[in-house]
Amino acid sequence: MRIIIIIEVEEKVMNQENTMSRPSGRSVIEFQKFYIPFIWVFVPCFAYAFLRYTVFHNEPWYDLPFYLMNKVLGVTAVMLMAAAYVLGPAANLWPKFKQYLAHRKYLGLGGFMLGSAHGFMSLLLMNPNNYSVFFNATNGRLNWQGSLSMFFGTLALVHLGFLACISFPPVMKIMDGRQWKALQRGGIWALWITFAHIAAFGYKSWFNLEKWYGGMPPFSMIGASSILLLLCLRYALSFYGLRVKARQFTPSTKQRLIEKTV
Ligand code: HEM
Repeated sequence: MRIIIIIEVEEKVMNQENTMSRPSGRSVIEFQKFYIPFIWVFVPCFAYAFLRYTVFHNEPWYDLPFYLMNKVLGVTAVMLMAAAYVLGPAANLWPKFKQYLAHRKYLGLGGFMLGSAHGFMSLLLMNPNNYSVFFNATNGRLNWQGSLSMFFGTLALVHLGFLACISFPPVMKIMDGRQWKALQRGGIWALWITFAHIAAFGYKSWFNLEKWYGGMPPFSMIGASSILLLLCLRYALSFYGLRVKARQFTPSTKQRLIEKTV
């Protein structure tokens, strides 16, 4: 009898604990805000990598699930993150883009996760047989290109990790809004650092037309130029947006805004 009562009491306490530890908020994760743009970017990138490396460069099929996938994840990550930084200035100019502003968080966090997966996979692959360009042929240690590229890759990952941490709702709630926004905008630096990460090992192959298998530029060039293109687009849209706003204000405000853009 006593044992049954103890079991019943324990069950009640456990049930109470279970309901207490369950989240009670109403927010749901809107996965579609990540996976729809992800599919739009990932599929063409994968097709490009497959054509360039497997078809035209005859790389073995068993490279597809890991070695090639690693490249595709890296490039997809930068494209999604860079796209997130274009949405803000685009929405300032064209109100129909406002509906996509909520995508920025998903693109940023999703890009960070893909970048982390890419970093982890790269470390598993890291040896002179896979990445001869990173290593010294004589002593098998990292050369200048490898050291710099690894340094910038790690730095980018740490920077993105910090931005992901401050995007957690409990952290966001207690942070000053202006500082939070400024820090998120500073994420553009993580993209420039990623540019350095790619350029450090890839720049030689960009200008060597023999390495353009099937006439297709190296994948590292696609990754680096997408960062350049999207960030230039962001700067152009911001500049244009400020000029449009300046036209709507009084002469003194207008002067200040123009000075700010110059
Ligand atoms: C610890 C962190 C990282 C390591 C160890 C790392 C390592 C590498 C390696 C070894 C490559 C050459 C891959 C190849 O030629 O097959 C590479 C390329 C690349 N990485 Fe990273 N990476 C890191 C972080 C990142 C991050 C955070 C991003 C972006 C968010 C990124 C984006 C890229 C891109 C776009 C390429 C060019 C694609 C290619 O040609 O392979 N990497 N990375």
